[in-house]
Amino acid sequence: MHQNPHTKNHTPVLLKELLELTNPQKGERYLDVTAGYGGHAAAVLAKNQNYRQSVLVDRDGEAIVALNERFRGNGIKLMHQDFLSASDELLKARRKFDLIVADLGVSSPHLNEVSRGFSFTKAAPLDMRMDQRQPTTAWDIVNSSSEADLAEILRRYGEEPRYRQIAGLIVRNRPVNSTQELSELARKAWPGHSRKQPATRTFQAIRIAVNDELSQLSEALPIWLKLLAPGGRIAVISFHSLEDRIVKRFFASESGDRLDAALILLTKHPVAPGPHEIANNPRARSAKLRVVVKQK
Ligand SMILES: C[S@@+](CC[C@H](N)C(=O)[O-])C[C@H]1O[C@@H](n2cnc3c(N)ncnc32)[C@H](O)[C@@H]1O
Repeated sequence: MHQNPHTKNHTPVLLKELLELTNPQKGERYLDVTAGYGGHAAAVLAKNQNYRQSVLVDRDGEAIVALNERFRGNGIKLMHQDFLSASDELLKARRKFDLIVADLGVSSPHLNEVSRGFSFTKAAPLDMRMDQRQPTTAWDIVNSSSEADLAEILRRYGEEPRYRQIAGLIVRNRPVNSTQELSELARKAWPGHSRKQPATRTFQAIRIAVNDELSQLSEALPIWLKLLAPGGRIAVISFHSLEDRIVKRFFASESGDRLDAALILLTKHPVAPGPHEIANNPRARSAKLRVVVKQK
């Protein structure tokens, strides 16, 4: 199939800031739990030059193909699975890392490839799976959940004020087959169809539910702490407040003035991209970077 080469581009977000704050050293062991198209990974690996003890994880098969092409032959371990199960496996194998990076959410190819169903601006089947081997799609959630469950997904994962109305419209108009139909229902829920981008929160909510994104993050964070060697750093880039809240709370709970605190915050406040980066890469708009270091 013809593939537009531009759909495969992903510009790493907050790269300079991430390198400055984490300061990778030669020989350090690197774990990238959302390696994507390898933008952050290539920059870190150029510094630590330790392919053999580094690991790249992604649950998306297309990202794994791209990572394999980019890093083939240098002995790095690739794991095609979700980061919670991958982190668990690495812990069981007693692996340790000096730098762990999580750059959460979807990649530009996810948004640009219409058929993946992540974008509400173009018509596509309701899919939204990051891992295409996973059985549950957005279609299943939209068409099989009870009205109460749908409303709860929209309220909790989308922080969508009109969650009740949208859930009701979805249930009355089933089957909802395309991203366009779903986005049209979200629009109808607003009086006078007044909201500027009425489907943003609905799509965020369904995507989080399909990929179980928040449990992945909250359950993986304590494992990353266990995988970290003394002096090791964890850097997390999040893209919405629900993710950032989980990261902020976990880092706060493991740091502070207590003698037994495991972590020191390297970012008291999250680092955001400057206007130049946002102008060049609008996807960076909502990014927030938090970095911690494990006490020696
Ligand atoms: C923002 S992109 C990362 C881009 C990468 N840092 C780069 O510079 O190319 C996020 C990637 O993480 C993957 N991902 C998101 N959540 C995941 C999870 N729970 N487990 C494994 N991979 C995940 C997505 O498939 C996507 O490829």
